[in-house]
Amino acid sequence: MAGGIGSRFWPLSKSNMPKQFLDILGTGRTFIQQTYDRFTKICPNDNFFIVTSVDYKELVMEQLPELKESQILLEPLRRSTAPCIAYASYKIQKINPKANIIVSSSDHFIQQEDAFLEEIRKGIEFVSKNDALLTLGIQPNRPETGYGYIQIESNRAIESVANLHKVKTFTEKPDIELAKIFIESGEFFWNSGIFIWSLPSILKAFNTHLSSISELFERGSRLYGTSDEIPFLNKTYSECQNISIDYGIMEKATNVYVLCSDFGWSDLGTWGSLYENSIKDNQGNVVTGKNVMLYGAKDCIVNMPNEKLVVLHGLEGYIVVESEETLLVCRKEDEQQIRQFVNDVRMNK
Ligand code: GDD
Ligand code: MG
Repeated sequence: MAGGIGSRFWPLSKSNMPKQFLDILGTGRTFIQQTYDRFTKICPNDNFFIVTSVDYKELVMEQLPELKESQILLEPLRRSTAPCIAYASYKIQKINPKANIIVSSSDHFIQQEDAFLEEIRKGIEFVSKNDALLTLGIQPNRPETGYGYIQIESNRAIESVANLHKVKTFTEKPDIELAKIFIESGEFFWNSGIFIWSLPSILKAFNTHLSSISELFERGSRLYGTSDEIPFLNKTYSECQNISIDYGIMEKATNVYVLCSDFGWSDLGTWGSLYENSIKDNQGNVVTGKNVMLYGAKDCIVNMPNEKLVVLHGLEGYIVVESEETLLVCRKEDEQQIRQFVNDVRMNK
């Protein structure tokens, strides 16, 4: 899934250059390239499909020249992750109706790749034998409101897989009060946004919980791969509900399982998560930029890719980020509002 705009990383991430196509950590590979590199170790090149916006076709082809054009599925409109998954699922059905599928975000950072792939292998094994919607769960360390929260049914693991649990509740993006309660209870995991299931299981879930979406995409089955596919998609996406897989299926389904793992995962979806994962100076600041002078600044994340001299005095707990045309100064604790700022900027243009 590579069609999001990563708006909470604004103004660095923009709609014409979203986060998945950026190398925010300076590793030499962008997030989508890192995601591809990771999965090539267990998935043959021909089995990759990137679902993204028509606007990002060139970016994907440029960054992943290994893929054929037919492996890049283009959406005419952004309708969040449920339509993205439904479209890909019906396309894959024509190739292999029994396929096991890994659905991954393309903007994650994973430190321990071998441990990660080991979990993926376990997950594939489980879903190939069970009608299960499996997600990888992460031990949370703060009341982050940008994630899904998963409560497990009991501490007893399923079958022989020590860290696999049936899910009791799934709550997408709770408010801060609820997130604090979840964290304090110690019973919850974060949803990593990396799912594993078989094609029959996910299609069954769509038919049960989001039938309006699955009916739309099923209708296209005989058109996929023909010249009628694009007009069909234009019409379908304009009629399609805008909903994520988390709200649409994971919160509702009763056959959700979680593989609780630790492989150094982070979404790095926000300035705050980048801050948490970065090395700080002795005042707790994370600074990128050659010409930044700090006086009494504490716990700030400052990202100044331009040459401009920046002097910060007495600022505590702030995000300060500059891009070519924008300067953002926002309290770290209010960073979820950045989505709103981006919407307002777009509306005012
Ligand atoms: N093709 C396509 N179309 N991809 C999309 C779309 C879309 O309309 N919208 C988002 N994506 C892609 C993004 O590019 C990203 O790779 C992935 O789908 C997830 O979308 P995000 O917008 O980043 O979701 P999120 O981070 O707010 O929430 C999800 O991930 C969290 C962990 O990272 C949820 O699954 C949460 O429950 C989870 O905790
Ligand atoms: Mg994300």
